Amino acid sequence: MTSKILIIGACGQIGSELTYKLREIHGIDNVIASDINTRKLDLVNSGPFVILDAKNFNAIKDCCKNNNIKTVYLMAALLSATGEKYPMEAWDLNMNSLFHVLNLAKGKVIDHVFWPSSIAVFGPSTPKENTPQYTAMEPTTVYGITKQVGERWCEYYHQKYDVDVRSIRYPGIISWKTLPGGGTTDYAVEIYHEALKHNKYECFLSENTALPMLFMDDAIKATIDIMAAKADTIKIRSSYNLSGISFTPKEITESIQKHIPEFKITYKPDFRQNIADSWPKSINDNEAREQWNWKHSFDLDAITKEMLTELKAK
Ligand code: SER
Repeated sequence: MTSKILIIGACGQIGSELTYKLREIHGIDNVIASDINTRKLDLVNSGPFVILDAKNFNAIKDCCKNNNIKTVYLMAALLSATGEKYPMEAWDLNMNSLFHVLNLAKGKVIDHVFWPSSIAVFGPSTPKENTPQYTAMEPTTVYGITKQVGERWCEYYHQKYDVDVRSIRYPGIISWKTLPGGGTTDYAVEIYHEALKHNKYECFLSENTALPMLFMDDAIKATIDIMAAKADTIKIRSSYNLSGISFTPKEITESIQKHIPEFKITYKPDFRQNIADSWPKSINDNEAREQWNWKHSFDLDAITKEMLTELKAK
C-alpha cells in the first residue's frame, strides 16, 4: 500500500489550498483531509475526508495507522486575535496537537511532519526591519508564545529523537479561496472583499502599520518545497524565516485604487493594533533562500490583480 498524507485542519485558510495542491501532486486518494467539522463543503467533498480532533492523540494515531499515513501537515491552530480572547484554548490546541504529531513521529508511526510557525514568534524587543533568523524573541501574544515554544520542541525532537520535522514562520497570508479566521493580518484579505462589495473598508489597523505578507500561491510553494527538499539541506529544525513582501494598509489601498479609483478606507484600530505593533515590519529570509532555494513571485500589485480578478469571478 502506498504511504499517504494527512492534513489536520484542512478546512482552514492554508489547509484547504494545501490539500488541493498535494492532491494534484500525489493523487486525490493519497491525501486525506481532516478537520474538527465539515464547515468547508467544497473541500470536504473533493476527496477523502475524516472528522478529526487535533487534540485527540488516539484518534490521530488510529487514522495514521489505519490509512498508512507517513506524512502529517498539522495546520490546525488558534491564531493571534482569537488566542487573546481564549488564551487557554489556544495553548491547549496549539501545543497538544503538536506534541501528538511529534510523538507519533518519535514512535515511528509517521516519518515526516510539517508544522507552521509564524512571525508572531517575534516581539517588541525584536529588531523591526529586516528581522534576522536568529534574534531576540519575546512574543507578547498567546499565539506567539505557543509558536515559539513549539519551535523549541520541534528542534528538540529532531535532535533527540531524529524526527524529520520542518517548519516555516509564515507571515500574513493573502488568498481568495478560503477566508482566514482570527488573525491580525486578516485585514489584508477582508479589504479586497469589501472593496468589491462596498467600495469601502474600515481597517482595524492604522494606516502606516507595515507587516510582512505573502500571497497564498507563494506560501503553498514554500510549504511543498521545504517538504520536498533533501533532509540534509534543511539545516534549521526550529523554523525558517520566510518573506515575500511588506506593506501598510495605506499601500494596499493605493494598490486597490489603481483598479477601483472610488475605493475609500477609514481607520479604527482595535486591540489588534497592539499585536501588529509588536511584530516585525519586514523579514530577512536569507537562510531559506540559500538552503532550499526559496523565492517568492508575487508583489503587491500582482496580488491585488489576482485577488480582484478571482473574487469578482467567484
Ligand atoms: N496571520 C497570523 C495572525 O495574524 C500570523 O501568523 O495571527
